[in-house]
Amino acid sequence: MGLEQCRIIQLPRFQDPSGDLTFIEGTHHIPFDIRRVYYIYGVPAGSQRGAHGHRELQQLIIALSGSFDVVLDDGRSKQCFQMNSPYNGLYVCPMMWRNLVNFSSGAVCMVLASEHYDEADYLRDYDRFLIEARGQET
Ligand code: TYD
Repeated sequence: MGLEQCRIIQLPRFQDPSGDLTFIEGTHHIPFDIRRVYYIYGVPAGSQRGAHGHRELQQLIIALSGSFDVVLDDGRSKQCFQMNSPYNGLYVCPMMWRNLVNFSSGAVCMVLASEHYDEADYLRDYDRFLIEARGQET
């Protein structure tokens, strides 16, 4: 698992003078079945979210409204993705440390997740994350 697997997925978009429509089907448009949806909103200016990794979880992160940046770190290198469009999703593979920063006022971050919530899947200590991430390198 590495940063090269993480990427922006352009989602289907039906454009219409009366408004646009985007839809997402698990395993069709994203590489996993959707078992959970959550969203983050009302983030105060200057606040950050994330600051953890997941051992198994796969996610798709979408800026439903407004904008924010997602910094991904696989323990070797980092990449910043600017999220500002409801038809672009960031696929985040397992074993990726993530920081969500630079939230605009009114931003809504929707996350599609491959598993139900499981605190045991979290890596909340960066040093521990590095040990496990580097241990998986071949
Ligand atoms: P967390 O994933 O740490 O938030 P973020 O990545 O946005 O900083 O989640 C914050 C808390 O919310 C977590 O300690 C428990 C709760 N939570 C759930 O109960 N279910 C969920 O699906 C999620 C994502 C969080």
